Amino acid sequence: MKARTQVGIVGAGPAGLVLAQLLHLAGIDSVVLENRTRDYCEERVRAGVLEQGTVDMLIEMDVGERLKKEGLTHHGVNVRFGGRTHRLDFDDLTRGRAITIYSQHEVTKDLINARLASNRPLYFETDNIAFSGVDGARPVIRYMHRGESHELTCDYIAGCDGFHGVSRPAIPVSALNIFEKDYPFAWLGILAEAPPSSDELIYAYHERGFALLSMRTPEISRLYVQCPPDDDIIDWPDERVWKELQLRLSTQEKWHLTEGRVLQKGITRMHSFVVEPMQYGSLFLAGDAAHIVPPTGAKGLNLAVADARILARAFTEFYASGRRDLLSGYSAKCLSRVWKVQRFSWWMTMMFHRWQGDSTFDQRRQLAELENLATCRSAAQSFAEYYVGLPLD
Ligand code: FAD
Ligand code: DHB
Repeated sequence: MKARTQVGIVGAGPAGLVLAQLLHLAGIDSVVLENRTRDYCEERVRAGVLEQGTVDMLIEMDVGERLKKEGLTHHGVNVRFGGRTHRLDFDDLTRGRAITIYSQHEVTKDLINARLASNRPLYFETDNIAFSGVDGARPVIRYMHRGESHELTCDYIAGCDGFHGVSRPAIPVSALNIFEKDYPFAWLGILAEAPPSSDELIYAYHERGFALLSMRTPEISRLYVQCPPDDDIIDWPDERVWKELQLRLSTQEKWHLTEGRVLQKGITRMHSFVVEPMQYGSLFLAGDAAHIVPPTGAKGLNLAVADARILARAFTEFYASGRRDLLSGYSAKCLSRVWKVQRFSWWMTMMFHRWQGDSTFDQRRQLAELENLATCRSAAQSFAEYYVGLPLD
């Protein structure tokens, strides 16, 4: 079957779905193609921290009703080291900006519902996506859906298909510059049926390695511990996870970590990655398809949404006035934000994790960095401004 659209969007993650909704609101046609099932997309456990700008944007886009009701707004964050906890107060440090805890898969559900309500196409379980003519004016996406082959002719393609998708590999290697960094550790994360033991997140530096206490709802905790990158999940029975969390989150203050039934457990490796430029011909990359940050700082989802907004603006301007300058400036505009956030995520990662073979000098330096964050107002202010998110313009 042959069809035609203005923007072909590959991937129904946060980047693809936000772009689809913004284009819909601007009256621009798009088709969203996703290779997984709807259930898989709506249940995939990933991020949970939304920056202020992301929340404002989701509300503006008419997908913020549940987020407003169920999201947990946090006005500060805790840093724990040397057995003591230091709270960084966003109200004071960022003039009232905040973060909101709301699961990525809940954001995805809200966006999928909005897409279905718009009556514009979103196809799950598509297969064998391939592009042709991306270096010209009328690129084509070929794909299989429900046993039939399809050909979608587009003005533009948005590659929002994550780090392992097909969009980035469709660009000639000679047209791209890749910048990347691997880290010699991973995060083991659990979702637990346990009321969060703190009202706000706790990032903990400990001689046994990093630990993080986060949450999803007043009944469900989300917790992470640093582990070796090649560990298998079977090396981490629930008792071992809780034992490490108890040790690494321990404090001299009066505080108790509540345990509960483990509902989900997974290991995520850590990687920094940027591709430049984020455009080739009529193919634009957005979100994880173009860049990955290590999770420390919770920036991946927020960056993906920021790209989608910039791209939607550029398409809106093009279809309204024929102006192409925002489209040609898309990559540079995104990359300016991406690199600042890469720096922040790398810096937080370096400060909080134990490195194999690090010297006593390195450990003292990390502690001095944490002490500086806890006691120096300008350091705390810079951290808080990045943590709640750079303003979206
Ligand atoms: P994705 O969410 O990856 O969406 C891409 C979509 O494209 C997916 O639905 C995928 O199924 C689809 N797709 C892929 N290939 C194809 C294809 N060939 N054809 C059609 N569709 C395709 N960030 C944080 O901030 N905090 C966290 O705690 C955190 N935890 C994470 C845990 C894991 C296991 C992973 C993988 C990521 C995590 N992230 C976290 C990062 C964050 O989830 C991502 O940055 C965010 O999902 C990026 O959104 P995206 O839309 O760009 O990509
Ligand atoms: C969460 C994930 C992060 O990467 C982070 O820095 C803070 C919280 C979370 O999943 O809740």
